[in-house]
Amino acid sequence: MSDHVRIFDTTLRDGEQSPGIALDTGEKLEIAEQLARLGVDVIEAGFPIASQGDFEAVEAIARTVRGPVITGLSRTGFADVDRAWEAVRHAERSRIHVFIATSEIHMAKKLRMTRDQVKAEAAAGVARAASYTPDVEFSPEDGSRSDVDFMCEVLQIAVDNGATTLNIPDTVGYGVPEEYAALIRHVLATVKGDYVVSTHCHDDLGLAVANSLAGVVAGARQVECAVNGLGERAGNAALEEIVMAIRTRADHFAGLETSVRTEELARTSRLVSRLTGYAVQHNKAVVGRNAFAHESGIHQHGVLADRETYEIIDAASVGQEAAQIVLGKHSGKHAFSDTLAKMGITVQGDALNQAFTRFKELADRKVEITEADLEAIVAEELGDSAVNRFEFIDLMLSGGTKVTPTARVVLRDGDGTVEAEASGNGMVDAACSAIGAATGVTGTVVDFKVSSVTGGRDALGDVVVKLSVDGRMASGRGVSTDIVEASARAYLNAVNKIVRTKAEPRERTVGP
Ligand code: KIV
Ligand code: ZN
Repeated sequence: MSDHVRIFDTTLRDGEQSPGIALDTGEKLEIAEQLARLGVDVIEAGFPIASQGDFEAVEAIARTVRGPVITGLSRTGFADVDRAWEAVRHAERSRIHVFIATSEIHMAKKLRMTRDQVKAEAAAGVARAASYTPDVEFSPEDGSRSDVDFMCEVLQIAVDNGATTLNIPDTVGYGVPEEYAALIRHVLATVKGDYVVSTHCHDDLGLAVANSLAGVVAGARQVECAVNGLGERAGNAALEEIVMAIRTRADHFAGLETSVRTEELARTSRLVSRLTGYAVQHNKAVVGRNAFAHESGIHQHGVLADRETYEIIDAASVGQEAAQIVLGKHSGKHAFSDTLAKMGITVQGDALNQAFTRFKELADRKVEITEADLEAIVAEELGDSAVNRFEFIDLMLSGGTKVTPTARVVLRDGDGTVEAEASGNGMVDAACSAIGAATGVTGTVVDFKVSSVTGGRDALGDVVVKLSVDGRMASGRGVSTDIVEASARAYLNAVNKIVRTKAEPRERTVGP
């Protein structure tokens, strides 16, 4: 059995199924490129038949991203399998991931199929996938709640029809480590053929990582996981935790390794958090802001004497202590673009000028500009490669605790400018209403999140706004040391997306 544990990242498929996340193709490509840089083995880029948007994103990733195997999810029906293949076929290496449920409750209540029908579906779906590519994965959905003998029969059928990876989903996060490990061992002992066993654990009981690792000890050599533990309901096993557990406890996971470049973990986590709008909890293992912070004097004393007194991971090894950026208000464009290049971000031409202007504005207001600040500025300015109709020029605010807040915005609209004034319940409300008046796009803010990119009174405020206009949803992000300005930028970004996507509906029509 190989010592290599494949990391199968499902951030863009199961992760994107988290409530409220809707990434556009550009955002998915950005995440997929970063996952390739991180060194994952497989990227599950989406569920191509779910919607035209999903299909296009998977296809774009397959055509562009080099390194990892690119896979798309598919039910057993031929229309699904064909669509999945159509989307992944241009990848350097493509895989089709076919699934059908095998638990009694799913078969009776959801599929309305008998055991024999499920077996026939699995055989046909896998065979169809294998007619396109030798790399076929099969998942018996709700595996951990399935009758084990029946599930193994279906798995054997999948192998006999060409599946080379057998994934055992703990779909509802019901498993516990010893039981899940026993299930993996049973599959390996029972199903004959040449295949790799994979884990896919959900976190409903907070056991997703523990169950996945128990599966690895039992012989699984692929782990399905998502950055920051994103996924349906309570999420999937967190990629960064799986990778760092295998690496840090090499003594326990004797000889096993992954090919993940761990120094990229923190950056990947921040990128995913920023684009999905899902904040990372401060005390999150490995990638949380406090994962390497020491509060008590005793701990500080210990760490100063020897870091290993209270740390089991070197922060730099997960990218938490990236080289300090010494950029300030005296820095030139060359130093700025050079720093971005070292961070793996290539920006040129007008885009570079725009980002540099934002950087200079920030440098005037903020003493220390960190790598995280730079990522946030560049993500807001350039994260979306599409052309925006409206550009932010100026925002003037007046008001106080006893005076109605009023905002005046000036925006670029093509070659001209538009401006408007409005009042509101607070400064943010007034600024958003003024943008609505200036652009003619008014909607309802269904979600509004503010977080700070770094610490301190001059921290960059990072605002994510979800806007609903005539049933169409868009999210926008804005950063500034002033949270009203950050909110206005976020709101305007969402308005730009609404304006841009008006002609292209992208509703999810089906889901696993
Ligand atoms: O949780 C699950 O069962 C899944 C399958 C589609 C693999 O996500
Ligand atoms: Zn899942």
